[in-house]
Amino acid sequence: MQAVTTIAEVREQVKAWRREGLTVGLVPTMGFLHEGHKSLIVRAAAENDRVVVSDFVNPTQFGPTEDLESYPRDFERDCKLCEEAGAALVFHPEPSEMYAPNACTYVNMDELTHELCGLTRPIHFRGVCTVVSKLFHIVCPDRAYFGQKDAQQLAVIRRMVRDLNFDIQIVGCPIIREEDGLAKSSRNTYLSAEERTAALCLSRAVFAGQKMVEAGERDAKTVLDAMRAIIEAEPLAKIDYVKMVDFENIVQIEKIENVPVLCAMAVYIGKTRLIDNFIYDPAEDAGCGCGCSGDSCCCCGA
Ligand code: PAF
Repeated sequence: MQAVTTIAEVREQVKAWRREGLTVGLVPTMGFLHEGHKSLIVRAAAENDRVVVSDFVNPTQFGPTEDLESYPRDFERDCKLCEEAGAALVFHPEPSEMYAPNACTYVNMDELTHELCGLTRPIHFRGVCTVVSKLFHIVCPDRAYFGQKDAQQLAVIRRMVRDLNFDIQIVGCPIIREEDGLAKSSRNTYLSAEERTAALCLSRAVFAGQKMVEAGERDAKTVLDAMRAIIEAEPLAKIDYVKMVDFENIVQIEKIENVPVLCAMAVYIGKTRLIDNFIYDPAEDAGCGCGCSGDSCCCCGA
């Protein structure tokens, strides 16, 4: 596995692979890799001839009071994980390689980014769309892999790829959790032992909400109230948001009908802001996606 720091080196290597007719998968990351990232790399390695991992703490997606400086970094450990997972190349640029000092061009999305995390982090998705577009232009992958833990990001990237005609397949991958349920995140490292225990209120709320929806509850408020009650019972937790939205458009909904929904939360545990979610797709229960009940589907009889 190679580790490179310049755009020119990435382009040269990818061009050489292309000349051999090889396919390329991209896993964009901000480093401090964990099992969640590893699952993306393993999947990318199974579906592509070569995998590029970008390892770059992107300054443009952090607000002025956020944790850019303290964001955890361990490049040596990241390289070992990438190699084990099957990556062929790690791209680890300096900020100056990615952004010229007078860079002033951004990719801005009008919709999808003003709800959920976009409310608390107003410039976040502009930074994400900008850096991901740059990575797509640098690597020109066939497929790019994103975790469902950042579900709004996944919806935003899918919309950006559609709107800007990137010829890239976006692959969303499941949330990877610790044994006790906590979603894996590089930011879990900020938690003290007491906060680590308190943080379990997020996954408890996610599992409880998911169970209600899978059992047939369709009223968003009923589900969200039950989830909020679980989080509010934890003294170290402070809710930023717990909301249900249409997953494609990131618009709040009152009732679950026949489109996939995202039930997402951001919760402060002490000073650390953690996110978690579940996605419910009624079509998966309905057999063929027509939207009617799976017990008596009008099209496929499922
Ligand atoms: O999900 C992340 O780690 C980042 O937002 C991403 C996609 C690598 C862009 O910096």
